[in-house]
Amino acid sequence: MNSRSTDIDGLNAALDGYLAALDCPEALRAAMSYSVGAGGKRLRPALLIAASGGDPDAVPFACAVELIHTYSLIHDDLPAMDDDDLRRGKPANHKIFGEWAAILAGDGLLNLAYEVMIGFCAGRLEPRFLAAADEIARAAGAGGMVGGQYADMESERVVADLSRVLYIDARKTGALITAAIAAGAIVSGAVGEALDRFRKLGRKLGLAFQIKDDLLNAAGDPAKLGKPVGTDGAAGKATYVSLAGEKQAAADYERLSRDIIEMIDFLPEGHALRDVVGRALFREH
Ligand code: IPE
Ligand code: IPE
Ligand code: MG
Ligand code: MG
Repeated sequence: MNSRSTDIDGLNAALDGYLAALDCPEALRAAMSYSVGAGGKRLRPALLIAASGGDPDAVPFACAVELIHTYSLIHDDLPAMDDDDLRRGKPANHKIFGEWAAILAGDGLLNLAYEVMIGFCAGRLEPRFLAAADEIARAAGAGGMVGGQYADMESERVVADLSRVLYIDARKTGALITAAIAAGAIVSGAVGEALDRFRKLGRKLGLAFQIKDDLLNAAGDPAKLGKPVGTDGAAGKATYVSLAGEKQAAADYERLSRDIIEMIDFLPEGHALRDVVGRALFREH
């Protein structure tokens, strides 16, 4: 087994453990576990663990980021938001458990992320752990992912230009990806300029990741993606692809990818983050 699958196996086991330990209604645990266990690429936790240099102390933070990401997907698919029926190759959470249960399953996962991080920090009181939790908390909130989701939903009603789409993408997707990389670096002890390099990488990768998501929504394979395609166009969503056009967006994605490959040059040869970034850039789902 290579180090990558060992990391992700450990992460999945930790996630299962946190869910199993909750003293909550069984049906709520089932709804929460359904979406966490439905798969997903585990990109954000993989970035976090890799950025930390494989530090075992990064695992609770990696779990927290994946819990927040999974809650955001459950809510993103709700009828009131993107109204999508398929996620991670399975029926969306609300299609199985119903709307109110899906809302609460998302709430439960979001809160669990903080239980995990605060529980870990409380036992240690090391500034780097609190700083990692702070990085993730701010990225997940109204100034980050939640704010980006709000602006994304609004863009179905207002005319959006490219600068607005870049604002949305930097927040709804970029914030958590940036925080994952930065939090991993913080756990490894990075501060100041060294930390800024990780943040800059995260911002570029976050934008690239969302442009690829939009390209795949326009022309990807739903069987591989495990989620529907063509939905952005049908909802009239302003995306990088709808504004720039598919051809230009694909060209911009290539350019961004090349920039990112250059940016990771600061990492030592063989650093795990090189591999995870490469996998993120060349994904087909
Ligand atoms: C999908 O993220 C939603 C976006 C922020 C673009 P991922 O493509 O990482 O979804 P999973 O975790 O693999 O399901
Ligand atoms: C999802 O963005 C972003 C978050 C859930 C934070 P999209 O709505 O574009 O992603 P998909 O295509 O449904 O995964
Ligand atoms: Mg959405
Ligand atoms: Mg969506």
